[in-house]
Amino acid sequence: MARLLMLSSVILFSAYLTEQVHFLQPEYIKKLNEEISTWEAGENFPPDTSIEYLKGLMGSYGVEAAAEGPFKTHDSNYESFHYIPRNFDARKKWKRCKTIGMIRDQGNCGSCWAFGTTSAFSDRLCIATDGEFNEMLAAEELAFCCHLCGFGCHGGYPIKAWKYFVRHGIVTGGGYDSQQGCQPYRVPPCVHGVPPTEENSCQSARFERNHKCTKECYGDTEIDYKDDHKYTRDAYYLTPGTIQQDVMRYGPVEASFDVYDDFVTYKSGIYEKSENASYLGGHAVKLIGWGVKNGIEYWLMVNSWNKSWGDQGTFKIRRGTNECGIDNSTTGGVIITS
Ligand SMILES: *[C@@H]1O[C@H](CO)[C@@H](O)[C@H](O)[C@H]1NC(C)=O
Ligand SMILES: *[C@@H]1O[C@H](CO)[C@@H](O)[C@H](O)[C@H]1NC(C)=O
Ligand SMILES: *[C@@H]1O[C@H](CO)[C@@H](O)[C@H](O)[C@H]1NC(C)=O
Repeated sequence: MARLLMLSSVILFSAYLTEQVHFLQPEYIKKLNEEISTWEAGENFPPDTSIEYLKGLMGSYGVEAAAEGPFKTHDSNYESFHYIPRNFDARKKWKRCKTIGMIRDQGNCGSCWAFGTTSAFSDRLCIATDGEFNEMLAAEELAFCCHLCGFGCHGGYPIKAWKYFVRHGIVTGGGYDSQQGCQPYRVPPCVHGVPPTEENSCQSARFERNHKCTKECYGDTEIDYKDDHKYTRDAYYLTPGTIQQDVMRYGPVEASFDVYDDFVTYKSGIYEKSENASYLGGHAVKLIGWGVKNGIEYWLMVNSWNKSWGDQGTFKIRRGTNECGIDNSTTGGVIITS
């Protein structure tokens, strides 16, 4: 019996090893590159990465939820932004705010919704304080303490994250193992190129379990947990017509969109879904600017899949055509500075 069990687990294990995700294979990427014209595909994830791991990264319910609002269509501060420049990059506009271009890593966890929102909030706070506040807010506290936001590593609603910032606030928190801020992220970045049996292997389907909510500072222990909370005064969706004014006035916003399998291999250019790509899940990122290239309008985005992904961790996606739902699923909130 024991031998039989062992034998069957060996068979299962090798079947698991040889199961290939077709869109990660070099031949597929080559074919894709022959068909697409506005962007280039390449290897971001090794060809033996599991489909479960990739699907696990998509944790935003923000695309479908947009219909419910609340939508922000007006702000008296928008009036000074009648002129929208052709190109805009928040990293260049607010050079002192180093969080704007910071590339984070969500690890084996579908916490993208917590990354997109806390990253945009950090930038907005830096901008509002003219660089006095210049650090990252905690994806950890948001992902594992906001139970109304969703399901932690199993996904969440970006709009509910902003509502949490209004109601409860959020503490500071840097990257994994950084000791920076009150609650540094506690999900490790996964490691490529090691066997799936190894802990933290990107290849394995081993998924981070939701952490218990911690109500104290374990990073920089000098910080007072209660005092460290930062707040927004509101939480809203933007309509395609107000995204740019809101970004120019207050800073980056969170943006959700539908991910199709070809996006996983994005390397550069302006992403547009290719003909045969199939749906993987909803994903949340940070929108930091826009531009036009060869007559095609795009949004400039910061992803949370490590610097090794895409264009140094960033990507461009077509703007103005609601590509993958991106134009009508952005969220934000205005900072309260005291
Ligand atoms: C997409 O499907 C069409 C029709 O089946 C095929 O001709 C084309 O080669 C496919 N493209 C890729 C990248 O697989
Ligand atoms: C966003 O766009 C999609 C696709 O065009 C559409 O189905 C959806 O109703 C839109 N949502 C809102 C809130 O406009
Ligand atoms: C990106 O991945 C590498 C390799 O796994 C890791 O050393 C690094 O810390 C990751 N970056 C972040 C921001 O976690």
